[in-house]
Amino acid sequence: MDTPFVFIRDDLMIGVFDSGIGGLTVVRALMQHLPKYNIIYFGDTARTPYGTKSPETVIKYAIEDAEILIQRGAKILVVGCNTASSVATDVLRERFDVPIFEVISPAVHMAISRPNKRRIGIIGTRATVNSGVYEYKIKALRPDIEVYAAPCPLLVPLVEEGWLKKAETRRIVKKYLHPLKLKQIDMLILGCTHYPLLKEIIQVKIGKRVKIIDSSEALSTSVKDFLQNNPHIADNLKKDGNCQFYVSDVTEHMRKLAGKILKRIGKLEHIRL
Ligand code: DGL
Repeated sequence: MDTPFVFIRDDLMIGVFDSGIGGLTVVRALMQHLPKYNIIYFGDTARTPYGTKSPETVIKYAIEDAEILIQRGAKILVVGCNTASSVATDVLRERFDVPIFEVISPAVHMAISRPNKRRIGIIGTRATVNSGVYEYKIKALRPDIEVYAAPCPLLVPLVEEGWLKKAETRRIVKKYLHPLKLKQIDMLILGCTHYPLLKEIIQVKIGKRVKIIDSSEALSTSVKDFLQNNPHIADNLKKDGNCQFYVSDVTEHMRKLAGKILKRIGKLEHIRL
């Protein structure tokens, strides 16, 4: 069912968008850290994946996604998608007058805060890895750290297929992580919405001594700190723990995947683009 355009002025929420359903890992982390805050989510399931597209296309989509959320009452915007965070954050910040969080910087800050970790690996979509944003941000703060990035394009479809524990998935994860293992990384950033769902396999394949950083966890801590330090914004946000989920296309498979990620989910409402 299409949702009519509504803007309820006093229902001000934290808005999260992603290229699809994977960004619900970010919502899951936000719900854990900020259980009272109302969240509005938009997943661009009609145009997913973003990770294989050009920066120009991802920027165009990200602007439209942000508009959808802001029109419906998002007062803070979280770019849940690593790919969109990598290429579209600057444009979004120029264009929209709300605090905008992306998932890259919090993970970078968490990673560099460990002084004994000096060889950081990053995995993400091709677009995220090609953007070089993680390397750029890490090197700007800690030039002494060695950074190695590996694109893992098959992991998104495997997660979407629900192949979270299959032998094939384990083999592919092992193959993708092999170059990072050879570099003897001591920390690994999960730079994609879908990878937290493969965290156990990733930990086994990369080795127990490698510390894994989940960008959705890092982001949630940073949003929580921001709200604590900015009561004039926090006080205006609605806090009855309600979440609304919108998508640009909806299938039974998406509903199941959403349920798997969040454990509980109400309606996935369809917005026609
Ligand atoms: N949400 C994307 C990301 O975090 C992964 C899926 C896609 O390629 O659209 O990079």
